[in-house]
Amino acid sequence: MNEGRHIPVLLADVVQLLRPSPGHVFLDGTLGRGGHTAALLAAGATVDAFDRDADAIAATAVTLADFVTSGHLRLHRAAFADAPRLLGEQRYDGILLDLGVSSPQLDEAHRGFSFQANGPVSMVMDDRDAPLSERLAAVDEPALARVLREYGDEPNARRVAQTILFGRPWAGTRALAEAVAAVAAPTRGIHRATKSFQALRIWVNDEIGQLERALVDLPALLAPGGRFAVIAFHSLEDRPVKQAFHALAGVGAPTDLYGNPVVAPAFRLVERKARKGEDRDPNPRARSARLRVLERISSPAHSPARLPPASPERA
Ligand SMILES: C[S@@+](CC[C@H](N)C(=O)[O-])C[C@H]1O[C@@H](n2cnc3c(N)ncnc32)[C@H](O)[C@@H]1O
Repeated sequence: MNEGRHIPVLLADVVQLLRPSPGHVFLDGTLGRGGHTAALLAAGATVDAFDRDADAIAATAVTLADFVTSGHLRLHRAAFADAPRLLGEQRYDGILLDLGVSSPQLDEAHRGFSFQANGPVSMVMDDRDAPLSERLAAVDEPALARVLREYGDEPNARRVAQTILFGRPWAGTRALAEAVAAVAAPTRGIHRATKSFQALRIWVNDEIGQLERALVDLPALLAPGGRFAVIAFHSLEDRPVKQAFHALAGVGAPTDLYGNPVVAPAFRLVERKARKGEDRDPNPRARSARLRVLERISSPAHSPARLPPASPERA
């Protein structure tokens, strides 16, 4: 299932918090090589699994074939933000997003994510999307510098953007990485192109846009008592998750004289603080992981008639 390389991040915590059991139905929005999904299936649950990467779907269709045959695993090659549109009336006991790229995507040079191994200038999770080379052909310097600054925190964003645009078209990821590293700000312990490559990957795959849409639309897919777990790997991801979960759970919302919320929230935080990968999981990929879990309240006091609209507005 993990091809000996990919270890699911915070697996024990995810299973403990999502509490899979026979008859439960889960939505895994980031199937990858199926590590988390396999644990949900092993507990007897049914899973609707999404991945926009054809390789991920193909690999798990083989490794988890028995569950596909038995109808416990339904594979969807699509973006998780499109799940509400594609799934119809199903309501879920749990939803999981394990954000970012998978180890196979990073490791396989032909996917074009790597600055160590040479590959095409691609970086797309979904090969139907425009590759990085095409996106670079159509972007101007201020917009690219903004991407590098906002998604990569690159202090020399303007110089890096100029260098990338000047060198187009790039023969491969290694040449691009070397050029970026020559002008990027010094970094300690990591390749100088790391921040820019992260930024380009997030941009090309619209990772933040996907997450923001999911945070608005996926909570409405939870059954009463259902839980929504998100594993984020950097603050660009974790900040919107925290803000959305806190808003849905009514954290900081107006209260009456007795300290009770004026509008009863439809959700609650399962734990106030994120679980941190570095405290709980020896897997190196888990080091920066943050796991947050939201629960749809099931008490009669919070009957669906009193729930806020399915897609709450958020700034
Ligand atoms: C970190 S890996 C998930 C690993 C998985 N939990 C496991 O145990 O093997 C993230 C996966 O989610 C997919 N992915 C990322 N963003 C996506 C999105 N918006 N929609 C669908 N799949 C996405 C990637 O293609 C990748 O395969």
